[in-house]
Amino acid sequence: MGLIRLCLVGLIMVMLMGRVGSVGWFVREVCLQDRWLLGWFRTVLIVGGVFVVMSSPKLLDLFSGAGGAAMGYHRAGFDVTGVDICDQPNYPFRFVQRDALTARFINGYDVIHASPPCQNYCWSTARHRAEGREYLDLIGETREFLVESGKPYVIENVSTAPLRYPTFLEGTMFGLNVIRRRGFETNWWLPAPDRRRRMKPIMQQSKRDPRIFIKKSAYCTVAGNGADGWSCRLADWRVAMGIDWMNRNEITQAIPPAYTEYISKYLITLV
Ligand SMILES: C[S@@+](CC[C@H](N)C(=O)[O-])C[C@H]1O[C@@H](n2cnc3c(N)ncnc32)[C@H](O)[C@@H]1O
Repeated sequence: MGLIRLCLVGLIMVMLMGRVGSVGWFVREVCLQDRWLLGWFRTVLIVGGVFVVMSSPKLLDLFSGAGGAAMGYHRAGFDVTGVDICDQPNYPFRFVQRDALTARFINGYDVIHASPPCQNYCWSTARHRAEGREYLDLIGETREFLVESGKPYVIENVSTAPLRYPTFLEGTMFGLNVIRRRGFETNWWLPAPDRRRRMKPIMQQSKRDPRIFIKKSAYCTVAGNGADGWSCRLADWRVAMGIDWMNRNEITQAIPPAYTEYISKYLITLV
């Protein structure tokens, strides 16, 4: 779709240059004198603009959180709308607050992404689950809803969640300082990237002696609500995830936009 947009802009430029010879001539003769041509130029721009907006494939981002997944799709050219049961003031795109599984407006969308809550399957809640605490599990219901929609879909969750034949992605595949392994169930073919890079360890200046730098792990764990100490610094999390607009709580729920930007390369060919 990016290519189509580029071609369209190129076409408009070629049409204009062919018609008017040079930009200087155009400004002098057309903008300042020829009202009819000015109208024509404006029409081309408006029609072109509307075409560009209308031609962007529409993606519904269910269980959107503050938009980690959404940002990758947006960068790849999708027109994204987020749905979450909680208000998400930091969500960077169009947003609707409601229960994702009652979204009765899916007809206007080309593809659907869903990130149902993962607490029932992730390691950080294992102790609480062992103590008998129960967490919401919406994966089965979400799958039913998406299959029924008949649209290409992506369900994202932690790697231990019961997804069907998921493709696994992790930060090492994208040169990020997080591992954050996640599964992606799709009803279309999504290959995994074959590259996996070893990241250089992060160096931290010693508090006792600033001349000393201590070698830390190459990877941050973006989880928990601890103090802003080593491995819990929001600034490090933001760099590691490639997310600069979320607060501490939002970023612990998110996936790096690099994952969905990668997925988009394949998804966009289906619409
Ligand atoms: C794992 S987070 C999503 C993170 C997001 N994909 C990202 O990358 O930033 C799950 C979200 O589901 C939302 N949620 C839970 N139950 C929901 C429901 N029934 N309908 C809509 N959203 C719901 C939560 O408020 C939370 O923001």
